[in-house]
Amino acid sequence: MKVATIVSALALAGSALAAPSSKAGKKLPTTKIANIEVVDTQLVRDAIAEVKKFIPLQPYLYNHVMRSWLFGAAAFNNNATLKAQIDLEAHAVGTLLHDLGWDMRPDSPWVTKLHRFEVDGGVGAMKFINDHPCSKKDWDETRIGWVYDGIALQAISDIPDFKSIQTQWIIKSVGFEFPGPRSPLIKDADYDSILGEFPNDTLFRGTNATFTWFAATKADTVYNTFIQDFGTAYVPGFNATGHRLFDVIQSGLQGELAAHPGSTF
Ligand SMILES: *[C@@H]1O[C@H](CO)[C@@H](O)[C@H](O)[C@H]1NC(C)=O
Ligand SMILES: *[C@@H]1O[C@H](CO)[C@@H](O)[C@H](O)[C@H]1NC(C)=O
Ligand SMILES: *[C@@H]1O[C@H](CO)[C@@H](O)[C@H](O)[C@H]1NC(C)=O
Ligand SMILES: *[C@@H]1O[C@H](CO)[C@@H](O)[C@H](O)[C@H]1NC(C)=O
Repeated sequence: MKVATIVSALALAGSALAAPSSKAGKKLPTTKIANIEVVDTQLVRDAIAEVKKFIPLQPYLYNHVMRSWLFGAAAFNNNATLKAQIDLEAHAVGTLLHDLGWDMRPDSPWVTKLHRFEVDGGVGAMKFINDHPCSKKDWDETRIGWVYDGIALQAISDIPDFKSIQTQWIIKSVGFEFPGPRSPLIKDADYDSILGEFPNDTLFRGTNATFTWFAATKADTVYNTFIQDFGTAYVPGFNATGHRLFDVIQSGLQGELAAHPGSTF
Protein backbone atom coordinates (compact mmCIF):
# COMPACT_ATOMS: atom_id res chain seq x y z
CA MET A 1 0.00 0.00 0.00
CA LYS A 2 1.39 3.40 -0.94
CA VAL A 3 1.86 5.92 1.85
CA ALA A 4 -0.68 8.27 0.23
CA THR A 5 -3.26 5.49 0.16
CA ILE A 6 -2.64 4.68 3.81
CA VAL A 7 -2.95 8.35 4.74
CA SER A 8 -6.22 8.76 2.91
CA ALA A 9 -7.55 5.50 4.39
CA LEU A 10 -6.70 6.81 7.85
CA ALA A 11 -8.37 10.11 7.08
CA LEU A 12 -11.50 8.26 6.03
CA ALA A 13 -11.49 6.15 9.19
CA GLY A 14 -11.09 9.30 11.26
CA SER A 15 -13.97 11.07 9.56
CA ALA A 16 -16.18 8.06 10.18
CA LEU A 17 -15.51 8.32 13.91
CA ALA A 18 -16.57 11.91 14.47
CA ALA A 19 -17.51 14.92 12.42
CA PRO A 20 -14.59 17.36 12.23
CA SER A 21 -16.44 19.95 14.28
CA SER A 22 -17.71 17.53 16.93
CA LYS A 23 -16.89 18.53 20.49
CA ALA A 24 -17.22 14.94 21.72
CA GLY A 25 -14.31 14.12 24.00
CA LYS A 26 -13.05 17.74 23.98
CA LYS A 27 -12.39 19.58 27.22
CA LEU A 28 -15.08 22.25 27.60
CA PRO A 29 -15.72 24.70 30.45
CA THR A 30 -18.15 23.43 33.07
CA THR A 31 -20.38 24.69 35.84
CA LYS A 32 -22.88 23.14 38.23
CA ILE A 33 -26.65 23.51 38.02
CA ALA A 34 -28.82 21.69 40.56
CA ASN A 35 -25.57 20.05 41.66
CA ILE A 36 -25.08 18.47 38.20
CA GLU A 37 -21.86 19.24 36.33
CA VAL A 38 -22.77 20.67 32.91
CA VAL A 39 -21.04 22.28 29.96
CA ASP A 40 -20.78 26.07 30.24
CA THR A 41 -20.15 27.84 26.92
CA GLN A 42 -21.58 31.19 25.83
CA LEU A 43 -23.98 29.42 23.46
CA VAL A 44 -25.33 27.26 26.28
CA ARG A 45 -25.71 30.29 28.56
CA ASP A 46 -27.60 32.10 25.83
CA ALA A 47 -29.85 29.08 25.25
CA ILE A 48 -30.72 29.08 28.97
CA ALA A 49 -31.50 32.80 28.79
CA GLU A 50 -33.75 32.10 25.80
CA VAL A 51 -35.82 29.42 27.57
CA LYS A 52 -36.08 31.58 30.71
CA LYS A 53 -38.36 33.77 28.59
CA PHE A 54 -40.98 31.00 28.94
CA ILE A 55 -41.19 31.42 32.72
CA PRO A 56 -43.97 34.04 32.97
CA LEU A 57 -46.48 32.23 30.74
CA GLN A 58 -45.27 28.61 30.76
CA PRO A 59 -43.17 27.89 33.86
CA TYR A 60 -43.70 24.14 33.31
CA LEU A 61 -41.96 24.48 29.95
CA TYR A 62 -38.85 26.12 31.36
CA ASN A 63 -38.64 23.45 34.07
CA HIS A 64 -39.19 20.68 31.51
CA VAL A 65 -36.38 21.69 29.17
CA MET A 66 -33.97 22.32 32.07
CA ARG A 67 -34.73 18.87 33.54
CA SER A 68 -34.34 17.21 30.13
CA TRP A 69 -30.86 18.68 29.75
CA LEU A 70 -29.83 17.94 33.33
CA PHE A 71 -31.15 14.34 33.33
CA GLY A 72 -29.06 13.68 30.23
CA ALA A 73 -26.02 15.36 31.77
CA ALA A 74 -26.48 13.32 34.97
CA ALA A 75 -26.54 10.10 32.92
CA PHE A 76 -23.30 11.13 31.16
CA ASN A 77 -21.61 12.03 34.45
CA ASN A 78 -22.48 8.52 35.62
CA ASN A 79 -20.73 6.82 32.66
CA ALA A 80 -17.35 8.15 31.53
CA THR A 81 -17.32 5.97 28.39
CA LEU A 82 -20.62 7.37 27.27
CA LYS A 83 -19.69 10.92 28.23
CA ALA A 84 -16.59 10.79 26.03
CA GLN A 85 -18.78 9.95 23.03
CA ILE A 86 -21.17 12.86 23.51
CA ASP A 87 -20.91 16.36 22.07
CA LEU A 88 -22.00 17.99 25.31
CA GLU A 89 -22.62 21.41 23.80
CA ALA A 90 -24.81 20.05 20.98
CA HIS A 91 -26.66 17.97 23.58
CA ALA A 92 -27.20 21.01 25.82
CA VAL A 93 -28.52 23.19 23.02
CA GLY A 94 -30.63 20.37 21.56
CA THR A 95 -32.34 19.58 24.87
CA LEU A 96 -32.72 23.18 26.05
CA LEU A 97 -34.25 24.29 22.75
CA HIS A 98 -36.21 21.11 21.96
CA ASP A 99 -39.59 22.70 22.69
CA LEU A 100 -39.24 26.17 21.17
CA GLY A 101 -42.29 25.04 19.19
CA TRP A 102 -44.38 25.11 22.42
CA ASP A 103 -43.94 28.84 22.90
CA MET A 104 -47.44 30.22 23.50
CA ARG A 105 -46.43 33.90 23.59
CA PRO A 106 -48.50 35.75 20.99
CA ASP A 107 -45.32 37.25 19.47
CA SER A 108 -43.35 33.97 19.49
CA PRO A 109 -40.39 34.11 17.11
CA TRP A 110 -40.49 30.30 16.82
CA VAL A 111 -44.07 29.11 16.31
CA THR A 112 -45.56 29.02 12.81
CA LYS A 113 -48.93 27.95 11.43
CA LEU A 114 -47.10 25.98 8.75
CA HIS A 115 -45.21 23.35 10.68
CA ARG A 116 -45.76 20.85 13.45
CA PHE A 117 -44.24 21.88 16.77
CA GLU A 118 -41.24 19.57 16.40
CA VAL A 119 -40.28 21.20 13.11
CA ASP A 120 -40.83 24.71 14.49
CA GLY A 121 -38.47 23.71 17.33
CA GLY A 122 -35.84 22.22 15.02
CA VAL A 123 -35.89 25.18 12.64
CA GLY A 124 -35.84 27.56 15.62
CA ALA A 125 -32.81 25.86 17.15
CA MET A 126 -30.94 25.99 13.82
CA LYS A 127 -31.72 29.69 13.54
CA PHE A 128 -30.65 30.27 17.14
CA ILE A 129 -27.30 28.58 16.46
CA ASN A 130 -26.75 30.18 13.05
CA ASP A 131 -27.46 33.67 14.43
CA HIS A 132 -25.00 33.17 17.30
CA PRO A 133 -21.49 34.67 17.10
CA CYS A 134 -19.95 31.21 17.72
CA SER A 135 -21.65 29.56 14.75
CA LYS A 136 -19.05 30.24 12.03
CA LYS A 137 -16.22 28.87 14.13
CA ASP A 138 -17.95 25.94 15.79
CA TRP A 139 -20.91 24.69 13.80
CA ASP A 140 -21.00 22.82 10.50
CA GLU A 141 -23.87 21.07 8.77
CA THR A 142 -23.28 17.76 10.56
CA ARG A 143 -23.42 19.24 14.02
CA ILE A 144 -26.46 21.36 13.27
CA GLY A 145 -28.09 18.29 11.74
CA TRP A 146 -27.71 16.38 15.04
CA VAL A 147 -29.61 19.13 16.82
CA TYR A 148 -32.29 19.48 14.15
CA ASP A 149 -32.88 15.71 14.02
CA GLY A 150 -32.93 15.41 17.81
CA ILE A 151 -35.68 18.02 17.99
CA ALA A 152 -37.67 17.19 14.86
CA LEU A 153 -37.74 13.45 15.63
CA GLN A 154 -38.37 13.83 19.37
CA ALA A 155 -41.91 12.42 19.30
CA ILE A 156 -41.39 9.63 16.76
CA SER A 157 -40.37 6.31 18.22
CA ASP A 158 -38.15 3.90 16.29
CA ILE A 159 -36.87 6.20 13.50
CA PRO A 160 -34.21 7.95 15.65
CA ASP A 161 -32.73 4.61 16.77
CA PHE A 162 -30.45 4.53 13.73
CA LYS A 163 -29.47 8.22 13.71
CA SER A 164 -26.28 9.59 15.27
CA ILE A 165 -25.70 8.92 18.97
CA GLN A 166 -25.85 12.72 19.40
CA THR A 167 -29.39 12.83 18.01
CA GLN A 168 -30.39 9.77 20.03
CA TRP A 169 -29.22 11.27 23.31
CA ILE A 170 -31.12 14.51 22.79
CA ILE A 171 -34.26 12.39 22.46
CA LYS A 172 -33.36 9.95 25.27
CA SER A 173 -32.77 12.87 27.63
CA VAL A 174 -36.27 14.20 26.96
CA GLY A 175 -37.52 10.62 27.47
CA PHE A 176 -36.41 10.71 31.14
CA GLU A 177 -39.40 13.04 31.59
CA PHE A 178 -41.98 10.35 30.96
CA PRO A 179 -43.77 9.01 34.03
CA GLY A 180 -42.54 5.67 35.26
CA PRO A 181 -39.80 4.23 37.44
CA ARG A 182 -36.55 6.12 37.70
CA SER A 183 -33.85 5.17 35.18
CA PRO A 184 -30.90 3.16 36.51
CA LEU A 185 -28.67 5.40 34.35
CA ILE A 186 -29.20 8.36 36.72
CA LYS A 187 -28.26 8.41 40.41
CA ASP A 188 -31.10 8.91 42.89
CA ALA A 189 -29.34 11.89 44.44
CA ASP A 190 -29.17 13.52 40.99
CA TYR A 191 -32.88 12.91 40.36
CA ASP A 192 -33.61 14.50 43.73
CA SER A 193 -31.52 17.61 43.18
CA ILE A 194 -32.83 18.16 39.62
CA LEU A 195 -36.49 17.72 40.64
CA GLY A 196 -35.87 19.86 43.75
CA GLU A 197 -34.70 22.82 41.68
CA PHE A 198 -36.93 22.26 38.63
CA PRO A 199 -40.18 20.69 39.89
CA ASN A 200 -42.29 18.53 37.56
CA ASP A 201 -45.65 18.94 39.32
CA THR A 202 -47.40 20.90 36.54
CA LEU A 203 -45.77 19.24 33.53
CA PHE A 204 -48.73 17.26 32.28
CA ARG A 205 -51.33 19.95 32.89
CA GLY A 206 -49.14 22.32 30.91
CA THR A 207 -48.52 19.73 28.21
CA ASN A 208 -52.22 19.02 27.79
CA ALA A 209 -53.00 22.74 27.50
CA THR A 210 -50.21 23.26 24.96
CA PHE A 211 -51.13 20.25 22.80
CA THR A 212 -54.78 21.27 22.79
CA TRP A 213 -53.72 24.79 21.80
CA PHE A 214 -51.87 23.38 18.75
CA ALA A 215 -55.01 21.59 17.62
CA ALA A 216 -57.10 24.74 18.15
CA THR A 217 -54.72 27.22 16.51
CA LYS A 218 -52.84 25.24 13.81
CA ALA A 219 -55.08 22.32 12.96
CA ASP A 220 -53.53 21.76 9.52
CA THR A 221 -50.23 20.84 11.17
CA VAL A 222 -51.67 18.27 13.58
CA TYR A 223 -53.65 15.90 11.36
CA ASN A 224 -51.93 12.50 11.17
CA THR A 225 -49.88 13.27 14.26
CA PHE A 226 -50.54 12.33 17.90
CA ILE A 227 -51.69 15.91 18.51
CA GLN A 228 -54.75 15.14 16.42
CA ASP A 229 -56.20 13.20 19.39
CA PHE A 230 -56.06 16.34 21.57
CA GLY A 231 -58.15 18.15 18.96
CA THR A 232 -60.68 15.33 18.84
CA ALA A 233 -60.88 15.19 22.64
CA TYR A 234 -60.89 18.86 23.56
CA VAL A 235 -61.39 21.29 20.66
CA PRO A 236 -65.03 22.01 19.77
CA GLY A 237 -65.57 21.69 16.01
CA PHE A 238 -62.24 19.92 15.42
CA ASN A 239 -62.84 17.03 12.99
CA ALA A 240 -59.91 15.11 11.54
CA THR A 241 -62.06 12.95 9.31
CA GLY A 242 -61.28 13.85 5.72
CA HIS A 243 -57.77 15.05 6.63
CA ARG A 244 -56.26 11.74 7.62
CA LEU A 245 -54.06 9.63 5.34
CA PHE A 246 -56.60 6.91 6.07
CA ASP A 247 -59.24 9.07 4.35
CA VAL A 248 -57.01 9.67 1.32
CA ILE A 249 -56.41 5.93 0.88
CA GLN A 250 -60.08 5.12 1.40
CA SER A 251 -61.05 7.64 -1.23
CA GLY A 252 -58.59 6.12 -3.75
CA LEU A 253 -59.87 2.69 -2.84
CA GLN A 254 -63.48 3.69 -3.47
CA GLY A 255 -62.44 5.12 -6.87
CA GLU A 256 -60.77 1.86 -7.84
CA LEU A 257 -63.71 -0.26 -6.75
CA ALA A 258 -66.07 1.95 -8.76
CA ALA A 259 -63.89 1.58 -11.88
CA HIS A 260 -63.26 -2.16 -11.46
CA PRO A 261 -66.16 -3.57 -9.46
CA GLY A 262 -65.50 -6.88 -7.79
CA SER A 263 -61.85 -7.20 -8.87
CA THR A 264 -59.05 -7.82 -6.39
CA PHE A 265 -55.47 -6.60 -6.47
C1 LIG B 1 -21.71 3.21 29.51
O1 LIG B 1 -21.74 3.67 28.18
C2 LIG B 1 -21.20 2.76 27.25
C3 LIG B 1 -21.14 3.47 25.90
O2 LIG B 1 -22.39 3.96 25.49
C4 LIG B 1 -22.06 1.50 27.23
O3 LIG B 1 -21.53 0.57 26.31
C5 LIG B 1 -22.09 0.92 28.63
O4 LIG B 1 -22.98 -0.19 28.66
C6 LIG B 1 -22.54 1.94 29.64
N1 LIG B 1 -22.41 1.40 30.97
C7 LIG B 1 -23.44 1.33 31.80
C8 LIG B 1 -23.13 0.77 33.16
O5 LIG B 1 -24.56 1.69 31.50
C1 LIG C 1 -42.16 13.80 38.88
O1 LIG C 1 -41.12 13.44 39.76
C2 LIG C 1 -41.55 12.54 40.79
C3 LIG C 1 -40.39 12.40 41.76
O2 LIG C 1 -39.33 11.71 41.16
C4 LIG C 1 -41.93 11.23 40.15
O3 LIG C 1 -42.38 10.33 41.14
C5 LIG C 1 -43.05 11.49 39.17
O4 LIG C 1 -43.34 10.29 38.45
C6 LIG C 1 -42.67 12.57 38.20
N1 LIG C 1 -43.85 12.93 37.46
C7 LIG C 1 -43.97 12.66 36.19
C8 LIG C 1 -45.27 13.03 35.61
O5 LIG C 1 -43.07 12.17 35.54
C1 LIG D 1 -56.80 19.52 28.64
O1 LIG D 1 -56.70 20.83 28.11
C2 LIG D 1 -57.90 21.32 27.55
C3 LIG D 1 -57.59 22.69 26.98
O2 LIG D 1 -57.06 23.54 27.93
C4 LIG D 1 -58.98 21.38 28.60
O3 LIG D 1 -60.18 21.78 27.98
C5 LIG D 1 -59.16 20.01 29.23
O4 LIG D 1 -60.06 20.09 30.27
C6 LIG D 1 -57.81 19.53 29.76
N1 LIG D 1 -57.97 18.17 30.27
C7 LIG D 1 -57.89 17.90 31.57
C8 LIG D 1 -58.13 16.48 31.94
O5 LIG D 1 -57.64 18.74 32.41
C1 LIG E 1 -66.57 14.86 10.70
O1 LIG E 1 -66.53 15.07 9.31
C2 LIG E 1 -67.03 13.96 8.55
C3 LIG E 1 -66.71 14.20 7.08
O2 LIG E 1 -67.02 15.51 6.74
C4 LIG E 1 -68.48 13.75 8.86
O3 LIG E 1 -68.98 12.66 8.14
C5 LIG E 1 -68.62 13.49 10.35
O4 LIG E 1 -69.99 13.38 10.70
C6 LIG E 1 -67.99 14.60 11.17
N1 LIG E 1 -67.97 14.21 12.56
C7 LIG E 1 -68.36 15.02 13.53
C8 LIG E 1 -68.26 14.47 14.91
O5 LIG E 1 -68.76 16.15 13.31
